[in-house]
This record gives sequence, C-alpha cells and structure tokens, in this order.
Amino acid sequence: MLGEKMEEALNGQLNAELYSAYLYLSMSAYYHSINLFGFANWMRVQWAEELKHALKFFDYIAENGRVLPRPVEVPPREWDSALAPFEVAYAHEQKVTGLINSLVELATSQGDEVTRDFLQWYVDEQVEEEESASEAVEKIKAAADSTEELDRLDQEFGQRK
Ligand SMILES: [Fe+2]
Ligand SMILES: [Fe+2]
Repeated sequence: MLGEKMEEALNGQLNAELYSAYLYLSMSAYYHSINLFGFANWMRVQWAEELKHALKFFDYIAENGRVLPRPVEVPPREWDSALAPFEVAYAHEQKVTGLINSLVELATSQGDEVTRDFLQWYVDEQVEEEESASEAVEKIKAAADSTEELDRLDQEFGQRK
C-alpha cells in the first residue's frame, strides 16, 4: 500500500500528465489553425505519449492505493509563431523532469523502494522527452527563415507516429 503522502503526490503527477496531454492537444489545434498539419501531427503524437504516461500512473496508483481525479487546468490556446509552442514544450518538459525528481526524493525519504523503482521508468523517459523537444526547437529555428524549409520540416513532423 502507498503511504498517504506518496499517494497524494502520485495523484498530483497523474494530473500533471493529463495536463501535459491537454497542453499538447491545444498546441496541435493551434498548428491546425495555421495550416502546419505536420506540426499538428507531431503534437498529437505527443498527446498520445502523455496519455500513456498518465495511464501508467493511473494503473500504479489504482493497484496500490486510490486514484482521486482532480480538475485538469485549461492550457494556453494561442501562440505567436510556429516556434513558440515548441519552446514552451521544451520548458514544460524540463519542469516535468523536476516534478519526477521530486517524486523520487519523496519515495526515497519515505523508504518506499517499490515506488522508487516504478519511477525510474519516468526518469529515463524524461531524458528522451527533453531531447525530442529541444531537437525540434533547433530544427524549427534552422528552418524558420525559409518557407521551403518550413514546408520540408512540416512534412518531416508529419511522419511522426
Ligand atoms: Fe509525461
Ligand atoms: Fe512529456
């Protein structure tokens, strides 16, 4: 069974993962609105990734305690360039890494080795999450001055599955 503090914190992270999903879905909608459909696809795939993260927390909490749903915050809806959402995404992933690290610290301080082991998957996953967001930021920066390059990148982002 999960300790009260750990259960509370894991429920908080479940909510944070659902927010991440909603944030990326909102970004996908923004890219649709400016006709960058490949960018929209990239964000939609990221939405699905975050739902996987959320469900993994859901299953772990449900098996070892109690899931208590909370309201999910409404994400931003407008950005002012093709680059902006990805910069926000990169900063967001860095923030999430911090949240995961705090959970690891809590599990360690509570002597909860099982949860500590469970969280290791997320520690590794966050390395990839930060990498893919910062890679995308660099690609967009390199393509931003040319319509042709941006179209090519939109095609590339459209391939993400
Ligand atoms: Fe996540
Ligand atoms: Fe993420």
